[in-house]
Amino acid sequence: MSLDEKNFTKYLNRHEIDAAVQSIANRINADYAGKSVVLVGVLKGAIVFMSDLIRHLNMETEVEFVRLSSYGKARTSTGTVTIIKDIQADIRGKHVLIVEEIIDSGRTLKFLFDRLKSAGPASVEIVTLLDKSSKRVVDVPVKYVGRLIEDQFLVGYGLDLEERCRNLPDIYYLKYPN
Ligand code: IMP
Ligand code: MG
Repeated sequence: MSLDEKNFTKYLNRHEIDAAVQSIANRINADYAGKSVVLVGVLKGAIVFMSDLIRHLNMETEVEFVRLSSYGKARTSTGTVTIIKDIQADIRGKHVLIVEEIIDSGRTLKFLFDRLKSAGPASVEIVTLLDKSSKRVVDVPVKYVGRLIEDQFLVGYGLDLEERCRNLPDIYYLKYPN
């Protein structure tokens, strides 16, 4: 990696990530057997997780994306969420799974969850690879969690540091985030 390596410590390697993705997929495959699911990925961070997850799913799927703004270039949530890119599909009567790579305060997900619910789907559930549950400010029902994590700033596997590092195949934490 081109960034200052001494500040990066490996947190989850690609094999541990694969195992977490596979175990989430197993649960979803069991819960949605015979059903059709609309996966709604939250851009940009969820792209890597989403692309790995869908290849482990057996049921019929549609893939949609939303882009929400809340963090901008800051590393902590500002609390306001706006939609930059909405889903294109009509989700009325459909089973929806929101796919997120990490949940922190829960503000982003709560906003999206409520919005998708109001469109009249058969169900909406949340999938996240990583959950900083101790940081939760807003209560949001998260059904599928890959790993519960400490309050650390993570990068790699879709997670960015000011738009960089999304391409790293493993997940790192920053020793000196500031
Ligand atoms: P929340 O609204 O506070 O739950 O923020 C969730 C969003 O913040 C995630 O979708 C990520 O895009 C971003 N985020 C939260 N924690 C981290 C982190 O440790 N590294 C990179 N992005 C993060
Ligand atoms: Mg995200």
